[in-house]
Amino acid sequence: MAADLVIRPETSGDISAVRRINERAFGRPGEAGLVDSLRDHDGIILSLVATYGVEIVGHILFSPAPVVGERGEADAVALAPVAVLPEHQGAGVGSALIFRGIQMLREAGHGLVVVLGHRGYYPRFGFVPASRYGIRCPFEVPEEAFRVLELYEGAAPDGGGVVRYRREFEGV
Ligand SMILES: CC(C)(COP(=O)(O)OP(=O)(O)OC[C@H]1O[C@@H](n2cnc3c(N)ncnc32)[C@H](O)[C@@H]1OP(=O)(O)O)[C@@H](O)C(=O)NCCC(=O)NCCS
Repeated sequence: MAADLVIRPETSGDISAVRRINERAFGRPGEAGLVDSLRDHDGIILSLVATYGVEIVGHILFSPAPVVGERGEADAVALAPVAVLPEHQGAGVGSALIFRGIQMLREAGHGLVVVLGHRGYYPRFGFVPASRYGIRCPFEVPEEAFRVLELYEGAAPDGGGVVRYRREFEGV
């Protein structure tokens, strides 16, 4: 019988598997290096793995990304990267990681999640264009690709602002 899909926090024993998943899912080393660099510099809010038994098949990471506006900084969390091994894609693993991550962030009291990604994928989780709240990406991106999710109503800061990603994202 096939093992059930389990989503759980990353442990130190998962680090090399997480690296391999990101390398294989993205087909390049950039995102795997980003994950290692954020881990090394205390830049992780939440890192989850998806497992079938002992096999790790997916990974998601959330890092601090405050919205800097005219009235100051508001707490926000960036979803990036999310990766599933190619042979396990399209089977709900990515969705399970995202839903569980959102749930854990909400339980931990966070208010806002930002994501830059495929425009057709994130609406199903409730992400809406960040422009709706006047929240902007620090670099040029298509409007439909930069999205936010309020974890409770009114979490987006009044007046919006610019998201400040961790410096480890530079150059990825
Ligand atoms: C994106 C990714 C994490 C999704 O994980 P997954 O387990 O394959 O996703 P799920 O099975 O939960 O959902 C499948 C849906 O995702 C969609 N999807 C997957 N990759 C996509 C892409 N590149 N662009 C748009 N939609 C995509 C599929 O079309 C499918 O949509 P449907 O349900 O309407 O048919 C995974 O495909 C992956 O690792 N891709 C390579 C790395 C990557 O691009 N990460 C995201 C960066 S924003």
